[in-house]
Amino acid sequence: AHQWRGVIREYADRLPMLTGAPVVTLHEGGTPLIEAEQLSERVGARVLVKYEGLNPTGSFKDRGMTTAMSMAAKSGAKAVICASTGNTSASAAAYATKAGMTCAVLVPEGKIAMGKLSQAIAHGATLLQVDGNFDGCLDVARKLAETYPVELVNSVNPARIEGQKTASFEIVDALGDAPDIHVLPVGNAGNITAYWRGYREYAEPTEGVSGELAPVATRTPAMWGFQAAGAAPLVHGHPVDDPETIATAIRIGNPASWHQAVQARDDSGGLIDSVTDAEILQAHRLLSSTEGIFVEPASAASVAGLLKQHAAGAVPPGATIVCTVTGHGLKDPQWALRTADGDEVEPVRVTAEAFEVARALGLDG
Ligand code: F0G
Repeated sequence: AHQWRGVIREYADRLPMLTGAPVVTLHEGGTPLIEAEQLSERVGARVLVKYEGLNPTGSFKDRGMTTAMSMAAKSGAKAVICASTGNTSASAAAYATKAGMTCAVLVPEGKIAMGKLSQAIAHGATLLQVDGNFDGCLDVARKLAETYPVELVNSVNPARIEGQKTASFEIVDALGDAPDIHVLPVGNAGNITAYWRGYREYAEPTEGVSGELAPVATRTPAMWGFQAAGAAPLVHGHPVDDPETIATAIRIGNPASWHQAVQARDDSGGLIDSVTDAEILQAHRLLSSTEGIFVEPASAASVAGLLKQHAAGAVPPGATIVCTVTGHGLKDPQWALRTADGDEVEPVRVTAEAFEVARALGLDG
């Protein structure tokens, strides 16, 4: 009887930092890499979707939270803190509960999705809504962690990046080698940093826990990152004071891993570009209605970016391309309830009569 054991146990040899730490896990990782036939046809390449919404709390953050919380437990911490646009707080709250720690989360008031808010509360976190945006929340969380006995579990915590790099390992393990291009949404830029590290470590001889590990992949992909147009500091080359986008998860004006994201882009021969909210919603709809994959808006930025590049003629025909979709659609379901024109979707009302239902379905000829 086997079940996926979570990223720390599955990739123990490649996570030396975690050696000797108690393992705090909800069996995160092991997410599906799904062939996206419709998207593939549309862009003339082989497109696969790494569905990170299927992690225990519904986003990729769990990969980094198992490692961050395990390191916090190792150091004897009793409390953790984070700033969040929602998913980090949901994940931190769940893993802190699992570890028997208390958790405080700072979120921008009115700008986090209801599903995420509910998760933090359900898991018993102390939730503070801050009058400000994510960047302000992160400043405060960092200062508190410097001064008080609380562990910071944002992606500036090196254990977070270590855990999140395992997504690249899973992709190479599934495909047999790295893809040509990896596409993902970029907010605070921890994830693009982590993926790039994972791909590099799998393509080079790497010092593991039990000695030198031979390369698993023959190459690394070009990293393509996409920010929301109203929150695209890496594209503009300077911080954005008032980031704005419907993709609240990536509503970030001054990413903490700025330098690492630029390095991932340049070292991989990749790019960081922006997509509009309309493009994001279009990709969101395409994923749910043609691929059967429901994601939150921020996650669709990867697919929106791929479509934008394709329209510009920049997608190499026949390339193998992996798009990470970072969070589940149920986190922020309101976007499914509007038509492409922005009108509210009205359910069809019927009585509980077979003939009436048949008529409504057009089955009665
Ligand atoms: N997609 C989703 C669904 C996210 O929640 C985030 C980040 C990103 C993409 C961007 O990843 O920050 O590593 O570049 N959410 C953070 C949070 C900021 O607080 O949940 P990134």
